[in-house]
Amino acid sequence: MPTLTSLSKELGIDLGTTQTRIADSGGVLMDEPTIVAIVIEEQKIVALGKEARGMQGRVSEETIEVTHPLQKGVVADYEITEALLAYLLKQVSGPMRIFRPRVMITVPYGVTSVEARAVHEAVLQAGSRDAYLIQQPLAAALGVDLPVGAPSGNMVVCLGGGTTQAAVISMYGIVAAETLRAGGMQLDEAIALYVRRKYGVVIGSTTAEQLKVRIGAAVSQDKEESLEVQGQDQVSGLPRPVTLTTGEVVEALQEPLKQVIENCRRVLEKTPPELVSDIIDRGVALTGGGAQLRGIDKLLTKALGIPAYVVDNPTTCVVQGAVKALGMYSVLKRNLPPV
Ligand SMILES: Nc1ncnc2c1ncn2[C@@H]1O[C@H](COP(=O)(O)OP(=O)(O)OP(=O)(O)O)[C@@H](O)[C@H]1O
Ligand SMILES: [Mg+2]
Repeated sequence: MPTLTSLSKELGIDLGTTQTRIADSGGVLMDEPTIVAIVIEEQKIVALGKEARGMQGRVSEETIEVTHPLQKGVVADYEITEALLAYLLKQVSGPMRIFRPRVMITVPYGVTSVEARAVHEAVLQAGSRDAYLIQQPLAAALGVDLPVGAPSGNMVVCLGGGTTQAAVISMYGIVAAETLRAGGMQLDEAIALYVRRKYGVVIGSTTAEQLKVRIGAAVSQDKEESLEVQGQDQVSGLPRPVTLTTGEVVEALQEPLKQVIENCRRVLEKTPPELVSDIIDRGVALTGGGAQLRGIDKLLTKALGIPAYVVDNPTTCVVQGAVKALGMYSVLKRNLPPV
């Protein structure tokens, strides 16, 4: 039997390009890939989340489409996003869905009102009672307990799969921020492009991501690692293995990482000097899955001239902050995106 608290749930949702997470005040309840598999002919959903990700690149593209309903942080397919949210909410609330949850859901900083409304509408249709939106970097800052309520500068960078969002927050409000509509997926693309150009071998996005996660880094490492992956010869189309080293992955990532640096620089340029001096004292908090790239803190520290550090909960801070924001709604309300 569900307890009384589970009947009147307050939930935070981090609707990410690669991963969607749901939490309540007790902790993270759900962490599933933002991926849905559909039988093309009947337009029927056959798998969602992890199960759908498992089908990626492994099913006939003519019969089953494995889709990412979010692209670069925003809803690209409204109906599929709603279906995915409905499925996840149902998993969280269980079969006895008597009371619908109140939800705080994230959107990237700087989305258009049309993009914001799509998320709001989708989560309401998916079965929530009330829904509020919060900018992802503000949620991240709350989730890592930065003193964002004080009149002082707090800088956070969210390194996501489809976006890179940098923001300076003071008195619960975003003072300066920029969203780059590129993230970890673009790092994977850069690795795949590098391998094709250098070795004439085509590798898939999942393989490129593996190279990044297992041996990759943002800056050169003392210890070189290597990994053999399977690809396809660009000319003959036949299978061909290729071995990459850490140094090569670092080289492949430099171009897209430059954009990440530029994005942070633009935010600092727009930040009032008093707040910049607070940020110099406190450092820049790095969050999101991409904060786990080895040496990203070193790279940003050097490029920005301000210490950057990876937070303890890089992948869950956004959803934890979203839950927290529900309880602070009255103080946050004027700074949240309108719908
Ligand atoms: N150890 C790692 N090193 C480098 N990148 C990593 C590592 N672990 C995860 N990632 C990357 O983190 C990204 C996903 O991060 P996250 O879950 O924060 O994204 P998201 O919230 O779904 O996307 P967004 O916020 O842009 O909409 C993926 O691109 C993934 O490859
Ligand atoms: Mg995210």
